[in-house]
Amino acid sequence: MTLIADSLPRPLGGSLVWRVGGLDAAELAELPRLELGARNLADLELIATGVYSPLTGFMGEADYLGVIERMRLASGVPWSVPITLGVNREDARRYRGRVALTRAGEIVGVLDVREQYSARKSVEAREVYRTQDEAHPGVAALYAQGDVNLAGDVTLLRLDRGPFPSHHHTPRETRDAFAARGWRTVVAFQTRNPIHRAHEYLHKVALEQVDGLFLHPLVGETKSDDVPARVRMKAYEALLEHYYPGTRTLLSVYPAAMRYAGPREAVLHALSRRNYGVTHFIVGRDHAGVGNYYGTYDAQEIFSAFSREELDVEILKFEHTFYCRKCTQLVSPRTCPHDHGHHLVLSGTKVRELLRSGASLPSEFTRPEVAEVLRAAYTEK
Ligand code: ADX
Repeated sequence: MTLIADSLPRPLGGSLVWRVGGLDAAELAELPRLELGARNLADLELIATGVYSPLTGFMGEADYLGVIERMRLASGVPWSVPITLGVNREDARRYRGRVALTRAGEIVGVLDVREQYSARKSVEAREVYRTQDEAHPGVAALYAQGDVNLAGDVTLLRLDRGPFPSHHHTPRETRDAFAARGWRTVVAFQTRNPIHRAHEYLHKVALEQVDGLFLHPLVGETKSDDVPARVRMKAYEALLEHYYPGTRTLLSVYPAAMRYAGPREAVLHALSRRNYGVTHFIVGRDHAGVGNYYGTYDAQEIFSAFSREELDVEILKFEHTFYCRKCTQLVSPRTCPHDHGHHLVLSGTKVRELLRSGASLPSEFTRPEVAEVLRAAYTEK
C-alpha cells in the first residue's frame, strides 16, 4: 500500500499511474513488433511506473500540440516536453491495435495504438528546444525519429531495475520511503554530471530548510562525452559515505534519457519529481542546458508560466556557485564581494580535459574521494 503522506504533493492528475504486468506472454507472440530505442524504452518505463502521471501512454495529437504551444496537456495539466513515439511513414501502416514493443528483439511491453498523426518537428524544435540547430543533441534526436507519432496506452511486461537495482525506486516506493522516514518536506536534486562541491553546497543549503534530500541522478541515455552513469554513481556512493547525513539522504536513480531541452526540461524534471513525492526541487544555473543555447537562468524564469497551485512543488533557485579563495568557501555572486581572479570556476570541458591528462581535480572543486573515482575511471580507459 502506498501511504501518501498529507504533506507530500499529490501526483499530477491526482493519482499515480501503474501499468505494469498482467499481460499474457503467449498472446503477445502474434502481435506486430516495434523495436524501441533507448529514449522510448526509458519513456515506456516512466509512463508505466507513474513517473509521468497522468500520462498513461505516448501522447495523442491534442496533448502533443497543447504541450508544444501552451505547456499544457489537453486537460489543462502542466506539461512541457512531448512524450512521443515516432515511426517511419511506411512502417506506420503495420501498427494498428495492439503492438508488441521490443528491446533487442525481446518483448518488454505493449502499445494499444489509438491514434497516428504527423510529428511537427520544426515547430517542436523551435518551441521546446528553442533552436532548430541540428548540432543540439536533443534536436538531433528529435529529427532522427520517424515522422508519424503512434499514440495510445502502454503496458510494461515487468519492471527491469537495470544496472543500479538497489537504487532504482518507483514513485510508489519513494513516497513510501519518505513517509517511513517521517520526512514532511523533501527536496529533489536532478543531475547528469559528476558531483562537485557546488552541487554539495546546493544540497546542504537546501537541507537547512527541508527534512530530506532526494538525490536523483539521471541514468538514462546521455550524450557520448558526458561521464557515464556507473562512474557518477560510484562517486555519489563515495561522497555520501563521508559527507552526508545518512538519515536525511536518499540516493535513487532517475531512469530517463537526457533531452538537453534546458528550461522546458527543467519543468519536466520538476513535475516528474513531484510524482516521486517531493515538495521542493533545485534549479541552479543552466539546468539541463548544453552549449550556449540557453541563458544562465532561463530554466528558473520559465516557472513563472505556472501558478504555485498547479506546480505544487517549490522551486529552490540558486545562482552560479563556485569556490572563492578569498572567502575560503563556496559562494555565489549573491554572497561574495571578490572579483573573478579569486574564483575557481571549471567548465565541464575543462574538467574532462584535466581528467584525460591524468591530472587530479583541485579539492576546492571536487572532494578527494570523488576525484579519485573519476581519475581511476579516466585512466583505466
Ligand atoms: S543538469 O543537466 O542535470 O542540469 P548538472 O548535473 O550539472 O546538469 O546540474 C544539476 C543541477 O545543479 C542543476 O539544477 C544545475 O542548474 C545545478 N548546478 C550545477 N552546477 C552549478 C553551479 N556551479 N552553481 C549553481 N547551480 C549549479
